Amino acid sequence: MVKALRRVKISGLGTHVPPHVLTNADLEKMVETTDEWILQRTGIRERHIVEPGQGASDIAEPAARAALAEAGLAPADIGFIVVGTTTPDTIFPSTACRLQAKIGATRAWGYDLGAACSGFTYSLTAGWSMVATGAVEHALVVGADVMSSIIDYTDRATCILFGDGAGAVVLSPAGDDEPGVIDFMHEIDGNGGDALCMPAGGSRKPASHETVDQRLHYVKQDGQTVFKFAVKKNEEMALRMLERNQLSGTDLDLYCSHQANRRIIEATAARLGLGPDKFILNLDRYGNTTAATIPLALADARAEGRLKRGDLVMLASVGAGFTAGSVLLRWSL
Ligand code: UT7
Repeated sequence: MVKALRRVKISGLGTHVPPHVLTNADLEKMVETTDEWILQRTGIRERHIVEPGQGASDIAEPAARAALAEAGLAPADIGFIVVGTTTPDTIFPSTACRLQAKIGATRAWGYDLGAACSGFTYSLTAGWSMVATGAVEHALVVGADVMSSIIDYTDRATCILFGDGAGAVVLSPAGDDEPGVIDFMHEIDGNGGDALCMPAGGSRKPASHETVDQRLHYVKQDGQTVFKFAVKKNEEMALRMLERNQLSGTDLDLYCSHQANRRIIEATAARLGLGPDKFILNLDRYGNTTAATIPLALADARAEGRLKRGDLVMLASVGAGFTAGSVLLRWSL
């Protein structure tokens, strides 16, 4: 249970997707697939893809600047930066360092956080702890992924799923009567490690001619194993989170899940008794942007008038690792 020294709220939200769009029709020309199959099995219509040479920090920067602007803060007001990413600009230095330099956050320290599709829920919790404990006054929490850099566009099982994007929130202290973060719950299960991974490029299998020839620098996924785990874990964690806060599904104003597959989100929503007005689906426009899906979904829910100050919101994620996360909050913007 969260026992904050001081309460924490989201004081700004910003997102960015690169302009170039890759549609299902484009993919039909690249691999043996159809728009109908992709839409039916996943709910995805199109995704955004960076220009060659762009990294995670390049798409994180505009998202971070927009979040800071909404919070009414200057970069130098930020004490801590955490970037949830599976596709950092480089293994080192961190994308957090690159972003810190780009925006001129001269008083911040920070790091990258590797939790794949749970990158945003985990990073939000890391940022929360810095502000809650008073270690810093304001934290910048980013989810940014350039999935196109690790996707094999000859593999129809994975290339249809992912897109590039970034989202950022600023976390600040909340007054006693203000809405803010209520609770969080996270789990990892390393036994699922091989079901979704990039086999080479790390210390165990460094890059070599052989690893390139064997196409080991790309995402490999056992889709059905991940699908089954995601449905089961999403439901189980959501129910546990509600129960320990003496809430039921119908108390939620918005269920904002990681966007990997429409069927996974709808299964959990049905289990919680939530109608289509109570959960957000926007993967039709972005695909799975890994650590960026949740802030992108929050931004779209807000733009559609479905997210208002004081609303009870559950964020939820399941991803490679396996990782799983849930954050309960009252919307504060
Ligand atoms: O973000 C975190 C983690 N990721 C996820 O949460 C993803 C979880 N998994 C999924 O969303 C789904 O498993 C997929 C969308 C990846 C796949 O859907 P599925 O319903 O599990 O399909 P499948 O893998 O069982 O494949 C069914 C059939 C196969 O053909 P056969 O063996 O039945 O003849 C595949 O070869 O569909 C075929 N297939 C395709 N057909 C057309 C696989 N990919 C494609 C494709 N186009 N792109």
